[in-house]
Amino acid sequence: MFFTAERIVTHEQMDLSLEIRREVFIEEQGVDPEEEIDDFDNLEKINDTAIHVLVFENNQPIATGRLLLDSSDNEYAHITRVAVLLGYRGKGAGLVVMHWLQDMAKQIGRDGITLAAQTHAIGFYEKLGYVARGEIFLDAKIEHRWMDLVFDN
Ligand SMILES: CC(C)(COP(=O)(O)OP(=O)(O)OC[C@H]1O[C@@H](n2cnc3c(N)ncnc32)[C@H](O)[C@@H]1OP(=O)(O)O)[C@@H](O)C(=O)NCCC(=O)NCCS
Repeated sequence: MFFTAERIVTHEQMDLSLEIRREVFIEEQGVDPEEEIDDFDNLEKINDTAIHVLVFENNQPIATGRLLLDSSDNEYAHITRVAVLLGYRGKGAGLVVMHWLQDMAKQIGRDGITLAAQTHAIGFYEKLGYVARGEIFLDAKIEHRWMDLVFDN
């Protein structure tokens, strides 16, 4: 499958990303819109604290995710809001999102990634080398576990 990935820098790109997240998280998973969209989605406010990616199959936007650099330099970056449209799953688009965001975190000089994985997706992150830690907790009424990836240098 042929995918392309681009950094989100315009409002048009951000609208396409938010539409994917609306379909996946709000409609499919029942997340409250107030919880789903936050200041890290506001291009005017994020400066260098969030980097978003949009992935296309042919010219169709089908997947997205974001890297948060909200913690200090010596802490791991966070990946959040990884979403692939339902009809496009299982073809590698999720991996494209993750590799793009991980490569960005490496270029910026972070040593790894920490993320809160929905428990159904733990196997997906394990394929990428993430290791789960701690108890299951609820966020947006969905079960999660923390997972970490340490980059090899
Ligand atoms: C989780 C999600 C991003 C995976 O995206 P995807 O495009 O379907 O995943 P890929 O096709 O890139 O899969 C990569 C590998 O992970 C595996 N995988 C994918 N989803 C998995 C899951 N839920 N559990 C276990 N393994 C999974 C695939 O089988 C594939 O393995 P392979 O390389 O051995 O064939 C997608 O299912 C999704 O958007 N879900 C809804 C939103 C969501 O829950 N996001 C995660 C929030 S923490």
